[in-house]
Amino acid sequence: MTTPTREIDKLDHHQKLYEPFVATIRNIKELSPTEKQFDIYIDDPQVRESFNFLPGQFVELTIFGLGEAPFSIPSSPNNKDYFELCVRNTGNVSGALHRMKEGDKVGIRGPFGNGTFPYEDMKGHNVIIIAGGLGMAPVRSLIKYILENRSDYKRLVIVYGSVSPEYLLYRQELEEWKNRDDIELCLTVDNPDQSWAGEVGVCTNLIPGIDCPVDDSYVVVCGPPVMYKFVIKELDIKCFKPENIFLSLERRMECGVGKCNHCHIGDKLACVDGPVFSLWEIRNLKEAI
Ligand SMILES: Cc1cc2nc3c(=O)[nH]c(=O)nc-3n(C[C@H](O)[C@H](O)[C@H](O)COP(=O)(O)OP(=O)(O)OC[C@H]3O[C@@H](n4cnc5c(N)ncnc54)[C@H](O)[C@@H]3O)c2cc1C
Ligand code: FES
Repeated sequence: MTTPTREIDKLDHHQKLYEPFVATIRNIKELSPTEKQFDIYIDDPQVRESFNFLPGQFVELTIFGLGEAPFSIPSSPNNKDYFELCVRNTGNVSGALHRMKEGDKVGIRGPFGNGTFPYEDMKGHNVIIIAGGLGMAPVRSLIKYILENRSDYKRLVIVYGSVSPEYLLYRQELEEWKNRDDIELCLTVDNPDQSWAGEVGVCTNLIPGIDCPVDDSYVVVCGPPVMYKFVIKELDIKCFKPENIFLSLERRMECGVGKCNHCHIGDKLACVDGPVFSLWEIRNLKEAI
């Protein structure tokens, strides 16, 4: 696996910055009433082979003739043949993608983002993942990686919250994770239905119950913007170290490669410095969280 450089111009696989690769949608799966999973195969075999990404990175997806939008890669970095995207139907590009069929063509630029989840540093430590709603998409790549290298890590604690059971993403996988004795999975929903037997309420409520030692644990947080402030407050109360807390941040993006200045957070750019930042890096940046 390659490590991305900080200079975005040194991209792998001979990529021109703004020229997308042509790719084919092979499989489409409904994950919730608003999210679908798309399996994306890059058409050029040479490009496909050299398309290496790290947990936390994203791609820019083009709908030809319409526009492009950034999406995190939720699949395992070890899956070399294709990668998955989990897309919420929110607007122009995502809406057009949701109307596409298997076999349709899209454009892909990337993978982008130098700020990724520090899966190497996490080795030998506990990893706590706190995700809300669509926030499961970026962290799933990290979870997959940890599960593929399970003995390198200590406890894996996953707290995942959603508005209601039908909006929990990857439900079949969550069932499998629930049955493993090397994952501590806690699910919670705001609005339970009659079949729901798990926790009720926001995922922040579950943080006080996490009993991992703070000096031996990394925490990853990803979810809707409103979630971050409350989660960080709870993590502060438990004295988790800001340098061991990693957050995936979203900003309105255009180029994805540090050229347009659309995604600044203080003096940082979410596309090239992030999208994953440690709390220590961004705590004092205006409007970061
Ligand atoms: C690094 C990164 C990773 C992302 N990963 C995913 C992912 O895995 N799955 C997914 O479904 N979405 C993801 N997004 C969000 C996605 O890029 C936006 O929802 C995007 O606007 C969709 O494009 P669109 O043309 O369909 O929507 P548009 O027509 O552009 O906009 C639809 C609505 O979304 C708002 N919006 C646009 N961008 C953002 C943003 N970044 N945050 C909040 N609101 C926004 C607009 O103001 C508008 O109200 C990610 C964004 C970033 C920056
Ligand atoms: S999206 Fe253009 S600088 Fe970040």
